Amino acid sequence: MLSFQEFSSQDDQSKLNFLKNADFQVRGFRIVGMFDEIETVEQMRNKIKELKELSDHDPCERKFFWIIKNDNPIGVITLRPALNGFWLHNAGHIGIAIDKPYRGRNNGTEAFKKMCKKANDEYNIKDIITMALTDNIASRTMIEKSGGEYWDTITAADGEKLARYWIKSE
Ligand SMILES: CC(C)(COP(=O)(O)OP(=O)(O)OC[C@H]1O[C@@H](n2cnc3c(N)ncnc32)[C@H](O)[C@@H]1OP(=O)(O)O)[C@@H](O)C(=O)NCCC(=O)NCCS
Repeated sequence: MLSFQEFSSQDDQSKLNFLKNADFQVRGFRIVGMFDEIETVEQMRNKIKELKELSDHDPCERKFFWIIKNDNPIGVITLRPALNGFWLHNAGHIGIAIDKPYRGRNNGTEAFKKMCKKANDEYNIKDIITMALTDNIASRTMIEKSGGEYWDTITAADGEKLARYWIKSE
C-alpha cells in the first residue's frame, strides 16, 4: 500500500539522500531537476519552501509529493492543479517518477491512480490531462491502465513527441 507525503520544509537527510541517489532518468524527463544542484538539507528545505510559496500563489505551479512504501520514499509525484497554455502542451496535470529498483511492480500504476483520485476529490479536477513521450511504453501503459483515453500526439517545446490522454472521472 502506497501513501503520499507532501514535500515539507521539515524533510530530513534521508529525503535528500533519496533525491540524490534515485534513478529517475528518462530521456529529457527531469521531474526533480530543480533539486540537481542541491547539496545540503538546508538548501533542500529552502527550495521546498520556495516551491510551496510559488504553488500557493499560482495553481499552474506544481505540488510535490513523496511516494512512500513501507515508510521509505520510492518515487516522486507532482500535481499541477491548473494548466496554462505552456503546460497543456508540455506536461499535463500529473508527473511521476519511480526509482528504478521499484519499477515494474505496479507501484507506478498504483501511485498514478491514487493521484488521479486525489486530484478529483481534493482539487476538484474532474478531467485530468496527462501525457507521455510517445516511445515511453511504461508510462503509456501506466496511463492506459489508469483509465487514460488517448487524445492526440503533439510536439512539445523541446521537439519531443508527446501522446496526450484524458482521464475522465465517472
Ligand atoms: C513510468 C513509470 C512511473 C512507471 O512506473 P512502474 O512502477 O514501472 O509502473 P508499473 O509497474 O505500474 O508498470 C506499468 C506498466 O508498464 C509496463 N512496463 C514497465 N516498464 C516497462 C518497460 N521498460 N518496457 C515496456 N513496458 C514496461 C509494465 O509491465 C506495466 O504493464 P503491465 O501491468 O501490463 O505488465 C516508471 O517507469 C518511471 O519512473 N519512469 C521514469 C520517469 C517517467 O518516465 N515518468 C513518466 C513521465 S509521464
